[in-house]
Amino acid sequence: MGMVERVREAFLLAPRADLPVWFERPICWPKLRRAAALALLAFSAASVASDLPKERQDALVHLLRHDCGSCHGMTLRGGLGPPLTPAALDGKAQAALEATILYGRAGTPMPPWQNMLSEAEVRWLVEALKSGSLQ
Ligand code: HEC
Repeated sequence: MGMVERVREAFLLAPRADLPVWFERPICWPKLRRAAALALLAFSAASVASDLPKERQDALVHLLRHDCGSCHGMTLRGGLGPPLTPAALDGKAQAALEATILYGRAGTPMPPWQNMLSEAEVRWLVEALKSGSLQ
Protein backbone atom coordinates (compact mmCIF):
# COMPACT_ATOMS: atom_id res chain seq x y z
CA MET A 1 0.00 0.00 0.00
CA GLY A 2 1.40 3.36 -1.02
CA MET A 3 1.90 6.31 1.28
CA VAL A 4 -1.08 8.20 -0.08
CA GLU A 5 -3.42 5.24 0.33
CA ARG A 6 -2.20 4.70 3.87
CA VAL A 7 -2.80 8.31 4.82
CA ARG A 8 -6.23 8.24 3.18
CA GLU A 9 -7.22 5.08 5.04
CA ALA A 10 -6.05 6.56 8.33
CA PHE A 11 -8.26 9.58 7.65
CA LEU A 12 -11.26 7.50 6.67
CA LEU A 13 -11.00 5.38 9.83
CA ALA A 14 -10.72 8.43 12.07
CA PRO A 15 -13.94 9.61 13.76
CA ARG A 16 -15.72 11.98 11.41
CA ALA A 17 -16.34 14.61 14.05
CA ASP A 18 -12.62 15.25 14.32
CA LEU A 19 -12.21 15.93 10.62
CA PRO A 20 -11.91 19.48 9.36
CA VAL A 21 -14.80 20.79 7.25
CA TRP A 22 -12.83 20.70 3.98
CA PHE A 23 -12.47 16.95 4.33
CA GLU A 24 -16.24 16.46 4.02
CA ARG A 25 -15.79 17.05 0.32
CA PRO A 26 -14.34 13.99 -1.35
CA ILE A 27 -10.84 14.59 -2.60
CA CYS A 28 -9.79 13.19 -5.92
CA TRP A 29 -6.34 11.89 -5.02
CA PRO A 30 -5.21 10.82 -8.49
CA LYS A 31 -6.10 14.27 -9.81
CA LEU A 32 -4.31 15.93 -6.95
CA ARG A 33 -1.26 13.76 -7.47
CA ARG A 34 -1.27 14.46 -11.20
CA ALA A 35 -1.47 18.19 -10.54
CA ALA A 36 1.46 17.96 -8.13
CA ALA A 37 3.52 15.94 -10.63
CA LEU A 38 2.74 18.43 -13.41
CA ALA A 39 3.71 21.35 -11.21
CA LEU A 40 7.00 19.65 -10.39
CA LEU A 41 7.63 18.91 -14.06
CA ALA A 42 6.93 22.50 -15.11
CA PHE A 43 9.23 23.75 -12.38
CA SER A 44 12.15 21.53 -13.37
CA ALA A 45 11.67 22.15 -17.10
CA ALA A 46 11.76 25.89 -16.52
CA SER A 47 14.93 25.64 -14.53
CA VAL A 48 17.04 23.62 -16.98
CA ALA A 49 17.82 25.82 -19.94
CA SER A 50 19.17 29.16 -18.82
CA ASP A 51 19.31 28.69 -15.07
CA LEU A 52 22.56 26.78 -14.82
CA PRO A 53 24.42 27.85 -11.69
CA LYS A 54 26.90 30.65 -12.37
CA GLU A 55 29.90 28.43 -11.45
CA ARG A 56 28.80 25.83 -14.01
CA GLN A 57 28.38 28.53 -16.67
CA ASP A 58 31.93 29.75 -15.93
CA ALA A 59 33.24 26.18 -16.14
CA LEU A 60 31.52 25.73 -19.52
CA VAL A 61 33.01 28.94 -20.88
CA HIS A 62 36.44 27.75 -19.71
CA LEU A 63 35.90 24.39 -21.43
CA LEU A 64 34.76 26.16 -24.58
CA ARG A 65 37.85 28.36 -24.77
CA HIS A 66 40.36 25.64 -23.93
CA ASP A 67 39.02 22.26 -25.06
CA CYS A 68 36.70 23.31 -27.87
CA GLY A 69 39.06 26.22 -28.61
CA SER A 70 41.92 23.83 -29.37
CA CYS A 71 40.08 22.93 -32.57
CA HIS A 72 37.64 25.79 -33.09
CA GLY A 73 40.13 28.51 -32.10
CA MET A 74 40.48 30.32 -28.76
CA THR A 75 38.27 33.09 -30.15
CA LEU A 76 36.01 30.48 -31.83
CA ARG A 77 36.75 31.88 -35.27
CA GLY A 78 37.81 28.50 -36.58
CA GLY A 79 40.89 26.30 -36.89
CA LEU A 80 40.77 22.57 -37.47
CA GLY A 81 37.03 22.90 -36.72
CA PRO A 82 34.70 25.48 -38.30
CA PRO A 83 34.04 28.84 -36.61
CA LEU A 84 31.41 28.87 -33.83
CA THR A 85 30.59 32.57 -34.10
CA PRO A 86 26.93 33.72 -34.18
CA ALA A 87 27.33 34.54 -37.88
CA ALA A 88 28.67 31.05 -38.64
CA LEU A 89 25.89 29.36 -36.66
CA ASP A 90 23.13 31.62 -37.95
CA GLY A 91 20.39 29.55 -39.59
CA LYS A 92 21.71 26.26 -38.23
CA ALA A 93 19.14 24.35 -36.18
CA GLN A 94 19.61 24.42 -32.42
CA ALA A 95 18.82 20.69 -32.16
CA ALA A 96 21.34 19.73 -34.87
CA LEU A 97 24.10 21.71 -33.19
CA GLU A 98 23.23 20.17 -29.81
CA ALA A 99 23.40 16.69 -31.36
CA THR A 100 26.78 17.45 -32.96
CA ILE A 101 28.20 18.41 -29.56
CA LEU A 102 26.61 15.55 -27.64
CA TYR A 103 27.40 12.78 -30.12
CA GLY A 104 30.24 14.22 -32.20
CA ARG A 105 30.44 13.72 -35.96
CA ALA A 106 31.59 10.30 -37.01
CA GLY A 107 34.40 10.37 -39.55
CA THR A 108 35.49 13.88 -38.52
CA PRO A 109 37.71 15.03 -35.62
CA MET A 110 34.62 16.40 -33.79
CA PRO A 111 34.41 14.20 -30.64
CA PRO A 112 31.28 13.40 -28.58
CA TRP A 113 30.87 15.25 -25.27
CA GLN A 114 27.91 13.38 -23.81
CA ASN A 115 30.04 11.89 -21.04
CA MET A 116 31.19 15.32 -19.90
CA LEU A 117 28.21 17.55 -20.58
CA SER A 118 24.52 17.19 -19.79
CA GLU A 119 21.85 17.95 -22.39
CA ALA A 120 20.94 21.11 -20.46
CA GLU A 121 24.54 22.26 -20.51
CA VAL A 122 24.87 21.65 -24.25
CA ARG A 123 21.62 23.55 -24.80
CA TRP A 124 23.02 26.43 -22.77
CA LEU A 125 26.29 26.36 -24.75
CA VAL A 126 24.56 26.45 -28.14
CA GLU A 127 22.22 29.24 -27.00
CA ALA A 128 25.20 31.21 -25.70
CA LEU A 129 27.21 30.64 -28.91
CA LYS A 130 24.30 31.67 -31.13
CA SER A 131 23.50 34.74 -29.07
CA GLY A 132 27.08 36.03 -29.16
CA SER A 133 27.18 36.50 -25.39
CA LEU A 134 30.52 34.65 -25.32
CA GLN A 135 32.25 36.75 -27.97
C1 HEC B 1 39.49 17.56 -31.91
C2 HEC B 1 38.91 18.74 -32.49
C3 HEC B 1 37.60 19.27 -31.98
C4 HEC B 1 37.24 19.53 -30.68
C5 HEC B 1 38.07 19.35 -29.43
C6 HEC B 1 35.89 20.08 -30.73
N1 HEC B 1 35.46 20.13 -32.02
FE1 HEC B 1 33.65 20.76 -32.63
N2 HEC B 1 34.08 20.25 -34.55
C7 HEC B 1 35.33 19.81 -34.97
C8 HEC B 1 35.27 19.60 -36.41
C9 HEC B 1 36.41 19.12 -37.29
C10 HEC B 1 33.94 19.91 -36.82
C11 HEC B 1 33.37 19.83 -38.23
C12 HEC B 1 32.88 18.43 -38.46
C13 HEC B 1 32.41 18.26 -39.89
O1 HEC B 1 33.25 18.23 -40.78
O2 HEC B 1 31.19 18.14 -40.08
C14 HEC B 1 33.25 20.34 -35.61
C15 HEC B 1 31.92 20.74 -35.60
C16 HEC B 1 31.31 21.34 -34.53
C17 HEC B 1 30.02 21.95 -34.56
C18 HEC B 1 29.09 22.04 -35.75
C19 HEC B 1 29.37 23.36 -36.40
C20 HEC B 1 28.53 23.59 -37.61
O3 HEC B 1 28.71 24.66 -38.21
O4 HEC B 1 27.71 22.74 -37.98
C21 HEC B 1 29.78 22.45 -33.31
C22 HEC B 1 28.55 23.21 -32.84
C23 HEC B 1 30.92 22.13 -32.50
N3 HEC B 1 31.83 21.44 -33.27
C24 HEC B 1 31.05 22.47 -31.19
C25 HEC B 1 32.09 22.05 -30.38
C26 HEC B 1 32.13 22.26 -28.97
C27 HEC B 1 31.07 23.03 -28.16
C28 HEC B 1 33.25 21.68 -28.52
C29 HEC B 1 33.73 21.57 -27.10
C30 HEC B 1 32.80 21.09 -26.11
C31 HEC B 1 33.93 21.12 -29.67
N4 HEC B 1 33.19 21.36 -30.78
C32 HEC B 1 35.17 20.48 -29.63
C33 HEC B 1 36.43 19.58 -34.20
C34 HEC B 1 36.46 19.66 -32.81
